[in-house]
Amino acid sequence: MSSSEFRHRRKALMRKMKKRSIAVLASAGVAVRNRDVEFPFRQDSDFLYLSGFSEPEAIMVLAPGRASGEFILFCRPYDQTKAIWTGKHAGLEGARQEFGADEAYDIEELDSILPGIMDGCERVYYSIGVHEELDGAVMSAVNALREKARAGAHPPSQFLNLDGLLHEMRLFKSEAELAVMRRAGEVSARAHRRAMQACRPGIYEFQIESELVHEFMRHGLRYQAYPSIVAGGENACILHYTENKDVLSDGDLLLIDAGAECDGYAADITRTFPVNGRFSEPQRKLYELVLAAQLAAIEAVRPGARWIDPHDAAVQVLTKGLVKLGLLKGRASKLIKEEAYKRFYMHRTGHWLGMDVHDVGDYKIGDEWRPLEPGMVLTVEPGLYISRSCQDVDPMWRGIGIRIEDDVLVTKRGCEVLTAQVPKSVAEIEAWMGQGNDA
Ligand code: GLY
Ligand code: MN
Ligand code: MN
Repeated sequence: MSSSEFRHRRKALMRKMKKRSIAVLASAGVAVRNRDVEFPFRQDSDFLYLSGFSEPEAIMVLAPGRASGEFILFCRPYDQTKAIWTGKHAGLEGARQEFGADEAYDIEELDSILPGIMDGCERVYYSIGVHEELDGAVMSAVNALREKARAGAHPPSQFLNLDGLLHEMRLFKSEAELAVMRRAGEVSARAHRRAMQACRPGIYEFQIESELVHEFMRHGLRYQAYPSIVAGGENACILHYTENKDVLSDGDLLLIDAGAECDGYAADITRTFPVNGRFSEPQRKLYELVLAAQLAAIEAVRPGARWIDPHDAAVQVLTKGLVKLGLLKGRASKLIKEEAYKRFYMHRTGHWLGMDVHDVGDYKIGDEWRPLEPGMVLTVEPGLYISRSCQDVDPMWRGIGIRIEDDVLVTKRGCEVLTAQVPKSVAEIEAWMGQGNDA
């Protein structure tokens, strides 16, 4: 992502801010895994979106119209010893030169410098109550100004949530963002294709996970966008199964929900396929039902459609199909009204996708589902889950969990599936798995 893309985003946000205001954002913190070991650092998505700056212990201030500079970055100063032990960091000079900060200060100076930047502003935008340290820094700056009120200082009088403005921007992807999301989708698709061909009865779920991670990493995408779900048979009925520890059995299905992160953007793909490469008859019937629901939902993604339309389309197809297969009894319209399908389909058909896998952005405007617009990216992911505990269901359906998930961009005319390069029909899957191990 170029520095002009980040500058453009900051400018766009500042244009939306009210007069005489500043915005303050905090970086993510380092999370301890155990004792001296830290989790890999992942920058806060809002912070990354506006700066590309990927270090902890940083605060960004945006001050539209401020004569001495609108973009102020507080961060860790460069430290030669630290560079030797833990690697490259921008320092104050890097903050200015590489990241385009108009002014850069040592993070230790935040409390002494922030009041001066805030003085005379009426409003402060920030994500209230999210980062304890940021709440503290803002309040101590306000209090410092209050104490100096008799000397002519003006503390701000309004605190506004930044999320509304910023998350609305993040909901609409630029061309540069779409290029990165396409790459995340392509590499993730490769990983799913590889997993399909590596699968056979007797190997373990974690061995399939290792194939996914291998494919991500060999393309330079070191991180999964979220922990991969590799769930054989009954495990697929646990929606957030990530233990990935069981052996894969002949005759079972395998559900894989996995996506790579590319430059801070997520892919999110699910495919479900037979461990032995051939669908049994009941598996095929349920699979084709979920696929029909997914295709109907994708068909419903177009500008002007409401957010809920793809979900409603999927529910229609699934409910009618469940009646046909004898898994639900009654009239489809009544079953939909009573939400009878929820027994086997208990989640929604998708979510916004972007820097966060469940990305930011409102789903409703007021009380109404919002219309889809070009530039939005969402997942379409219907499923059916019939666990072994469904004692009243014919045994041939039990222990089957199926989800099919793609990432879909709303375009001017309809939509584009960003993750289309993974086999999806029964015939495509069986043919691809039959070709063996040369992904
Ligand atoms: N992988 C998380 C989800 O599909 O929502
Ligand atoms: Mn998913
Ligand atoms: Mn998803």
